[in-house]
This record gives sequence, C-alpha cells and structure tokens, in this order.
Amino acid sequence: MKRIAVLSSGGDAPGMNPAIRAITKASLSRYGLLVYGIKGGFAGLAELAELVERVGAERVRQEMQSKMGLMGLTDDDLPIFRLTYRAVHGIARQGGTILGSARFPEFRKASLRRRVGEALKEVGIEGLIVMGGDGSLRGAQALSREMGIPAVGLPASIDNDIAATDMSIGVDTARNTAVNAINMIMDTADSLHRTFVVEVMGNRCGDLALMSALATGADALIIPEQGPLAESDLERIGEHLRQGYLRGKKRGIVVVAEGARMKGRDGERATVALGRSLQQKAKLFDPRVVILAHIQRGGSPTAFDRILAARMSDVAVKKLSTMKPKDKAVVVLLKNNVIVTQPLEKALLRSSDRVIQFRKRISQLYELFQCLSE
Ligand code: F6P
Repeated sequence: MKRIAVLSSGGDAPGMNPAIRAITKASLSRYGLLVYGIKGGFAGLAELAELVERVGAERVRQEMQSKMGLMGLTDDDLPIFRLTYRAVHGIARQGGTILGSARFPEFRKASLRRRVGEALKEVGIEGLIVMGGDGSLRGAQALSREMGIPAVGLPASIDNDIAATDMSIGVDTARNTAVNAINMIMDTADSLHRTFVVEVMGNRCGDLALMSALATGADALIIPEQGPLAESDLERIGEHLRQGYLRGKKRGIVVVAEGARMKGRDGERATVALGRSLQQKAKLFDPRVVILAHIQRGGSPTAFDRILAARMSDVAVKKLSTMKPKDKAVVVLLKNNVIVTQPLEKALLRSSDRVIQFRKRISQLYELFQCLSE
C-alpha cells in the first residue's frame, strides 16, 4: 500500500486534529505511506467522485501530486489534498478538525458508495481512515465491504457512542468542559439557592451526562439508558431535591442527557418536562434551565484526548498499511488502557444490543452516582 486518505465525519470532536497530525506523521515517517486529507467528511468523498467523473481520474491524480494547481484546478478546488508535515504543524492543541466535517445522510445510498469507491481506486487511494462516531463508522464499514477498500475506523465523538471502546477521542475534553460549566453554574446556584437543570450533549448516549454529574457532585441525573420517564419520576426528583434543601443544601443541580425523553407526550425532552415540573414549586426551587449545547464540542483537546488520539492513530496506520482489499474493516479501540483493533462489524451493534452494552458499561458508575448523590 502506498497512498491512504483520512477523513473526519459527523459532529467534530476535540482530539480530531491531534489524530490527523499523528496519522500524517506516522504515515510519512514510520510506515512509508503518502497520506491525503479528504475535506468535509463523506460529502468530500462524494465531491471527489463527481470531480473524477467530470474531469477524469488522470487529471485529478496529477493535481493531487502537484501543489501548484497547474492543471487549472487549484488546491482549493480539490476535495482531496496532500497532508504534509507542514500541513499538520501546530494543530495538536486546536479544537475542531482542519479537514472539516459534515453530516451526510446521502452516503446511505449504495449507488453513491459505488461511485466513491471507484473514484478512490482510480486516483490511487488504497486505504481509508475514518474518524467519527457510530454513524460515520457505519459508512466506512459499508464502503469497505461493498467496494473492497481497506478501512480503519477511529472512534471520535463526544457522545462515546461506540460501546466497544472504553473512551472515544473527544469525550475527555467534552466532559471537562461540561464540568467547568457546571462548576460555574454551581457558584450562582449556591448564591441564590436555586435549582438548575443542566442539559448535556450525547445524543442517545448518557455517558457524557453521567461522567459530568459524577465529577461535579450533582444532586440528580437523567440519562436515556434509564428508559423514558413518567411524571412520577419527575415528582421523585423534585422530592429528592426538596429533601436536600431541608438537610441544609443551598442549591440543586440536575444533569440531564439531551437524549432523555418522557414516556408518551410525543417523546417530550426530559429537560423541558423537568424544568416545568420544578417551576410548579417555584418558591422552593426558583429553577433555571441551562442547555450547554455546542460549547461541549469545542476547545483545545485535553492531554488525555491528545495522547489517546496519538496512540489510536499510530495503531490505525500500522494496521491499515498491512491490509488487503478483501480484508474486513476494523476499528481501533481503547480496552483496559491498551489500544487494540477489532472487526468493525463486531463493534457496531444493533440498537437493542447497544442499549444492553451501554447499560452494562455504565451500571457501576451509575450506581456510584446514585450513592454519592444521596
Ligand atoms: O454527535 C455529537 C453531537 O454533538 C451530539 O451530542 C448532538 O446530539 C449532535 O452532535 C448535535 O448535532 P448538530 O451539531 O448537527 O446539531
């Protein structure tokens, strides 16, 4: 294998840049590979297919080699570009992804994946590294299986939605951001004796909320893994907070994962329902609702995320460099502090199995939180 490409997909995660840097440097200096960046995730691959069909693979290949735009296509026009030492210099501390990312549901179409697979082969890309969450790695898996393109997935999503890995790239930074934000909210909550409902990201996954609640010593937690909530659950949380005030607490903090929903009620968000329920006892709680939202995706990656990204990237390039077109796509995982690989198809679970896996994974932490929030 001589040429590989890397893309970042879905919601960006802090740590993608250190991963791009490590993939580039490991490819060039350790494994003798040329490495290309795809701009804008799978949407960039679709653009590449369109470009190859329009101007021909030979012209795109020449352009990929030249830095000068001699053929009339400048670097800016190309959805693919050479990753060099210079291109990745100084990016380890930057949030986001220099490659750009995209939500691109169109990649679910097999016909598009066929065009993309053909274009990649025609321009000489022999292997692909895809970083992203569950949905992005499913895209990599489908492309690899159908088109015989060796692919390696790197779990990178603040959602921690790949059950097979202990941690995905980006989770540590996001949980620290959430913890810092909740610390600040606690200052004002303490001063005014208020209760805050703080919504944390994570899509269908409660990991980020659970970790943030445990680390901040929140008073209550709602995560999707508990299942949809009934009105009685909201009453129970209200009573728990009331007891806290009676025992002398100066405030209440409830961390709610964004994916938590009410039973019935057209799947109303638990954040909204709880805010309303506490408002009915406004005298006691004087509640406020804060949605942390996208600040959790930004910021300079923590040392943990940078190191995880470097370790996973090195293993990803090493694995990819040995793969053949018939080989099944793999994913790089952190398991008990060791970096390992596993076939992607084994790591990507069906929804029902995912819930079981996630419950297993978080049950100890969840019980600990319950005990400490008494
Ligand atoms: O997947 C990462 C994530 O931040 C989720 O936690 C969240 O549900 C979603 O992306 C938000 O997506 P968008 O940025 O497209 O609104």
